[in-house]
Amino acid sequence: MQHNLAAALLDRLRTIEAGDPARFERLRSAIESDGRDAAEPPTIAVFDAKAFDLDAFEEANGGRFQLKRIKDTLSTQTAGAAAGAVAACIFVNDRCDAAEVQALASVGVGLIALRCAGYNNVDLQACADHGIDVVRVPAYSPHAVAEHTIALALMLNRHLHIAYLRNRTGAFTLDGLTGFDMHGKTVGVIGTGQIGRCVIDAVLGFGCRVVAFDAYPNEAFAQQPNVEYASLDALLAQSDIVSLHVPLMEATHHLIDHDAIEKMKPGAMLINTSRGGLIDTRALIDGLKSGRIGAAGLDVYEEEAGIFFRDLSSQVLTDDVLARLMSFNNVVVTSHQAFLTREALTAIAETTLASVAEYLAGRRGDELTHRVS
Ligand code: NAI
Repeated sequence: MQHNLAAALLDRLRTIEAGDPARFERLRSAIESDGRDAAEPPTIAVFDAKAFDLDAFEEANGGRFQLKRIKDTLSTQTAGAAAGAVAACIFVNDRCDAAEVQALASVGVGLIALRCAGYNNVDLQACADHGIDVVRVPAYSPHAVAEHTIALALMLNRHLHIAYLRNRTGAFTLDGLTGFDMHGKTVGVIGTGQIGRCVIDAVLGFGCRVVAFDAYPNEAFAQQPNVEYASLDALLAQSDIVSLHVPLMEATHHLIDHDAIEKMKPGAMLINTSRGGLIDTRALIDGLKSGRIGAAGLDVYEEEAGIFFRDLSSQVLTDDVLARLMSFNNVVVTSHQAFLTREALTAIAETTLASVAEYLAGRRGDELTHRVS
């Protein structure tokens, strides 16, 4: 039995050596270093790591891996910190362009594990060129993001951000706090994937009508009462609330621009818990100034990298666009926190570590369950 297993392993290695010498080299050096450091668990370099990330990862880890905390985001200057690690674990604001990929490859990283769903920040071609596999966490808790979406919409509608501050000053007045019934309103959901569908379920519970838009409509989902697919223009024209749940890619970059805002129902609310680049922020500011947009709830911002996830409270905010955006009393900005629930953190950690374990077991490319292709 033992002999058969060894023969099969050797056969497999020979096939890999013939077809993919770079992968063979990585396997060979992994096997060698495993022999040298049998007691040392393999290392995962965790970039932009916060205490809440590490807590969840340590809990899911059970001593299988060494988690190397790197507080900085990934850059060509910080990539070297991953030397000796089998995988670099990165998040939404770690830029992973060709230069960073090259830097990671040069220190021996063979796997980039995104601890998020979106992968717009990774140059996949560069990864392929360097024989680096990329995995992500395609679904951890669509509920977490959907519930934050609803929180932003309710907060803006009922002016809770203003009421909270006003009441703390002792001004217990109601002027300016009038909202609207959600019941009977039309919600436009752009992107009816996992998160978009959770948002739809929630707003149907309020008695809203849903107009949806998706490049690949889910007709079965639209069979239910009060849900229909429409063109993007029709959605924008009818919706009292527009919520974005599509990934950021070339086709969706600045999906909400001047033209789209002009097509929106006057005074409509816009919510974005997806990716900042879906909205042309300057167009949004113009729309807020003209009143075309009645309120905006933003968990993401196109220039959030370097700002969100950092404590800048002892510095001045140098991003004038963000500063202007946050000066509106009908705008609420949260710093990419829609995912941040205990359940989501646990699922992210478990899926990411399972992917690294698969990689260490020799799976590559399509053999990796959560490979980004
Ligand atoms: P998903 O992949 O389940 O759904 C995306 C939907 O967008 C799909 O139905 C797809 O057909 C549609 N779509 C793709 N390209 C399109 C286009 N050009 N036009 C119209 N529709 C298009 O993704 P999921 O899980 O619902 O996540 C959506 C987005 O939410 C992610 O891509 C990510 O950017 C963002 N997100 C934000 C988080 C946060 O903390 N703020 C956390 C997790 C995800």
